[in-house]
Amino acid sequence: MSIDEKLKHLERLKKEALLGGGKERIEKQHQKGKLTARERIDLLLDRGSFRETDMFVTHRCTDFEMDKKKILGDGVITGYGTIDGRLVYVLSEDFTVFGGSLSLAYAEKICKIQDLALRNGAPIIGLKDSGGARIQEGVDSLAGYTEIFLRNVLTSGVVPQISAIMGPCAGGAVYSPALTDFVFMVKGTSYMFLTGPDVIKSVTHEEVSFEELGGAMIHNTKSSVAHFASDNEEECLASIKELLAYIPSNNMEDPPTVECKDDPNRMDASLDSMVPDSPIKPYDMKELIHRIVDDGKLFEVQPHFAENIIVGFARLNGRSVGIVANQPAVLAGVLDTKSSIKGARFVRFCDCFNIPLVTFVDVPGFLPGVDQEHTGVIKQGAKLMYAFCEATVPRLTVITRKAYGGAYCVMNSKHMRADVNYAWPGAEIAVMGPEGAVNILYRKKIAESKDSAKTRSNLTTEFTGKFANPYITASKGYIDEVIQAKETRAKLISALEMLQNKRDTNPAKKHGNIPL
Ligand code: HXC
Repeated sequence: MSIDEKLKHLERLKKEALLGGGKERIEKQHQKGKLTARERIDLLLDRGSFRETDMFVTHRCTDFEMDKKKILGDGVITGYGTIDGRLVYVLSEDFTVFGGSLSLAYAEKICKIQDLALRNGAPIIGLKDSGGARIQEGVDSLAGYTEIFLRNVLTSGVVPQISAIMGPCAGGAVYSPALTDFVFMVKGTSYMFLTGPDVIKSVTHEEVSFEELGGAMIHNTKSSVAHFASDNEEECLASIKELLAYIPSNNMEDPPTVECKDDPNRMDASLDSMVPDSPIKPYDMKELIHRIVDDGKLFEVQPHFAENIIVGFARLNGRSVGIVANQPAVLAGVLDTKSSIKGARFVRFCDCFNIPLVTFVDVPGFLPGVDQEHTGVIKQGAKLMYAFCEATVPRLTVITRKAYGGAYCVMNSKHMRADVNYAWPGAEIAVMGPEGAVNILYRKKIAESKDSAKTRSNLTTEFTGKFANPYITASKGYIDEVIQAKETRAKLISALEMLQNKRDTNPAKKHGNIPL
């Protein structure tokens, strides 16, 4: 072959690989309202930055006449490129090739990318669209999946791992995303399930649609497998880029900083009247956060799950912070099983990746109830406790109103190594709310009095005046400073600056044993 012919041959092969499963299947993909694996990469990465690896890999299966059906690339496109100029590794599953199902060769391509990401310290993003294990490959496919899972686990906490579900994600295809840090889903076109509706029908006789079983909103509201739900693929890919802007490329780096045009000393007098006088009146903690952080921007994580706790990323004077906040507008901001798990996972992510934590507290306690006890509120609450206790990043707390009982301890209190703890003047810090405390302490006195309602009310007022304030706690040094609400932004920014070089470690060990 002449050099010219060799080059033409290479071009022909590349053209063939670019077509994946062929024009007809690409057309089908578009008809379903989905982009192709390559179109997704083009939208995700900076223009022209993608470098593909293993374009000519094919499967090695000979059963079921598979040796007659080989497609260059074998159903997954892998490589690297940049997002906003920062290196990322990408794998994009191609549903047009054997339904995106995973062969051993396909798994090897993914493992190669995972190894590169780990060694070179850059995030890895998986765009998922797959029917699971390639049935024709048998145990080879299972072996391939397990090699990927192993790398997901070893990579955890070293570089951020992000998954976007952009089509069916069945069987083995779901476990890799579940092991990653954040799972994005697209409404109407993405599904995650271990066993599909047909298998479920034959085993349990339950009839369920794809959407009801494992659609985006099910995994965002019920199972909590997913963290984000987007209206379409373009929005999903844009959200991934937005998330990346808050987080570092690996565990040895600090998060990127951005130029801050929002005055770090900005006072917001409206905050002083934001918390209602009545301790039982709700208000929107998100609104409060918006008024404090840079440009009012909060990138919320899991906004549809356990809405009684808010977690997400924001910036203070251009620096990324992880926000954890009780939400008095939902279930009075109580802590329960679901909110504890949601909070714990987020705190651990921030601690892995050097993102300071800012906690806003207004919590009446842990939710009482048989269901809560039976679903392990003790163990789930302990997860949040564990996560905060082991975190060594800079940690700030602002108590805006209530901080009662175990929930006071758990929400980044001084006693669990928080660095700077503030309280607003209206904060109430106690073992429990005044009514509950009076009912226990003065049960006899109330029962024996002629006007028990009046006695109870008088005692409650007395208790509130004496204990339901931040000053007893401040007198013991558990609160560093009682601040005016309007000063919060400036105080947090200066505390973060003070903590910029914080160094703290945990005792040497193989790993702790978080109550799972
Ligand atoms: C091989 C597969 C496949 C698979 C789909 N295809 N899944 N080939 N192995 N797992 C092929 C189909 O035969 C078809 O080929 C093409 O991909 C497109 O599939 P369709 O069914 O036509 O598409 P659609 O109607 O959109 O349905 C998509 C789907 C469905 C919902 C994903 O294909 C499906 O249910 N697949 C099986 C899902 C599943 O049960 N996976 C679990 C495998 S076991 P042609 O040539 O006709 O276009 C597993 C265990 C691993 O994963 C555990 C590890 C821990």
